[in-house]
Amino acid sequence: MAKEKTQFVCQECGYQAPRFLGRCPNCGKWNTFVEEVIAPATTVKTATSLSGGTVTKPEKLAAVSMQKEPRVKTQLGELNRVLGGGVVPGSLVLIGGDPGIGKSTLLLQVSGQLSQTGGTVLYVSGEESANQIKMRANRLGVASDNLYLYPETDMSRIRANINEMKPNYVVIDSVQTMSEPEITSAIGSVSQIRQVTAELMRIAKSQGVTIFVVGHVTKGGAIAGPKVLEHMVDTVLYFEGDLHHTYRILRAVKNRFGSTNELGIFEMQEDGLKEVKNPSEIFLEERLKDATGSAIVVSMEGTRPILVEIQALLTPSVFGNAQRTASGLDRNRVSLIMAVLEKRANLMLQNQDAYLKAAGGVKLDEPAIDLALAISIASSYRDKGTNPNECYVGEIGLTGEVRRVNRIEDRVKEASKLGFKRIYIPKNNLKDWTAPTDIEVIGVATLGEALHKILA
Ligand code: TYD
Ligand code: MG
Repeated sequence: MAKEKTQFVCQECGYQAPRFLGRCPNCGKWNTFVEEVIAPATTVKTATSLSGGTVTKPEKLAAVSMQKEPRVKTQLGELNRVLGGGVVPGSLVLIGGDPGIGKSTLLLQVSGQLSQTGGTVLYVSGEESANQIKMRANRLGVASDNLYLYPETDMSRIRANINEMKPNYVVIDSVQTMSEPEITSAIGSVSQIRQVTAELMRIAKSQGVTIFVVGHVTKGGAIAGPKVLEHMVDTVLYFEGDLHHTYRILRAVKNRFGSTNELGIFEMQEDGLKEVKNPSEIFLEERLKDATGSAIVVSMEGTRPILVEIQALLTPSVFGNAQRTASGLDRNRVSLIMAVLEKRANLMLQNQDAYLKAAGGVKLDEPAIDLALAISIASSYRDKGTNPNECYVGEIGLTGEVRRVNRIEDRVKEASKLGFKRIYIPKNNLKDWTAPTDIEVIGVATLGEALHKILA
C-alpha cells in the first residue's frame, strides 16, 4: 500500500508546509503545526456548488430575480441589531468566543425563541448530553415543542437527520467537536473544521436552513480556531467579555447582510443572558465624582452612542524612560495626544509615567475620543478635577486644532439623555444644526482654548 502523504498545517491560520516548523511564517505563532493526512482528491467533495448540485449557467444581473430577504427577529434586540436587523433565513452564522463565555447559553436561548415563532430547531451538541442541555434549558426557562436536542458528532448522521427532519434552524455546538468521516485528520484540526463548515454551508444554501455554528477561540496548539473559517461563512460574530465580569459584548466582524460596526451588550445572570439596553449607565456606574484624571467621552459604537469614562494617571518617572500604558485605548493615539499637549499646550510630560484606561472594559478607537483623552491627561497632570456633569467630544490635529467629528447630534442627545449638563464639541460642529436646549453646548477651536475653559 502506498504510504499516506502528510503535510503540516498551522492550526492558527491554516498555513501549510511540507515539514514541521516551530514558528509559522504566515501568522508568526509558535508551536502551532500539526501533521495532517492529505486527503486523496477523489474523496474531498467540492463544496462550492451553492445550488445543491444542479448545474447553473451565468445570468444577466438584470435577469436575476430578487426576493427581499425576510428577517426573523429574535426576542433579543441586541442580537438582531448585530445581525443587521434579524436572522436571515438560509445563512450560516459563526459565533466565536473563549470557552465558558456563554456561546451555548446564547444559542440555547435563541433556539427556544426561534422555535416559538413557528420554526423547528435542531440543536446538535458534540459537547453535552441531552440531559445536560435539558438541565440548562430548564434554568433558562426554555421550553418548546419544536426544539429537538441531538447529541452527535458524526457529520454524515447529522446530514441524514437534517435531510429527514428538514428543520428551519440548526445549531452546531461546536464545530471543533464535529467530524467528517471521510477526512482522516484529527477532530478539531484545520482540515476537519474546514470540511465540516463547507458541508454546513452547502446544506444551508441548498436547503434554505439557517445554521449557527459555535467555534471556540483556542490559545494556540492542537485545536484550530474560528479564524480559519471566517472566509467561508456569511456572518462572523465574536462573543467577548471578561470571565471576571458579567458583561458580554457581541461584535460582528464580518456580515454579508449588514454592518460590522454594531455591538450587542448582554449581562450573564443566574437565568441566562439578559440584554443591556442602556450601556452608558453601566459604563459610568462606578465613576468617582471628584477624581482627577477622569473625562467622559461620547463614543459611537456602530450606530449607537455610548458614554465611557477615560481615566489617566500621571506620576513622575523614577527611572530615565517614561512608561506609557493604555488599556482599551490605542497606545499610539495616547503618545500622539501627549506629544500635542507637550508642544501646543506647554505641558511637561516627558518625565511623567502615564497610565491610560477606558473604564468598563470597552475598546475605544475613533478619533472623536481625542479631546477627552487630552483632558484626562491634563487633569491628572495638573491635579485638577473635571466637572462631573460635563463630557467632551472632538478630534485633535497635530497643530492642536480641535477637528469636526461625525454624528454630533446623536452624541449630544445621548449626553443630555443621561443627565449631563454641558458638552464641549469642536467649534466647526456647531454649524448646520440647532443644539438642544436642555444641555449647554460649547464649541472649542483649539486644544489650548479647551484646556483654558475646562480646567481653568
Ligand atoms: P456556556 O454557554 O456553557 O459557555 P460556552 O458555550 O461559550 O463555552 O456558559 C458557561 C458559563 O455561563 C458558566 O460558567 C456558567 C455561566 N452561566 C450563568 O452564569 N448563568 C446561566 O444561566 C448559564 C446557563 C450559564
Ligand atoms: Mg458550550
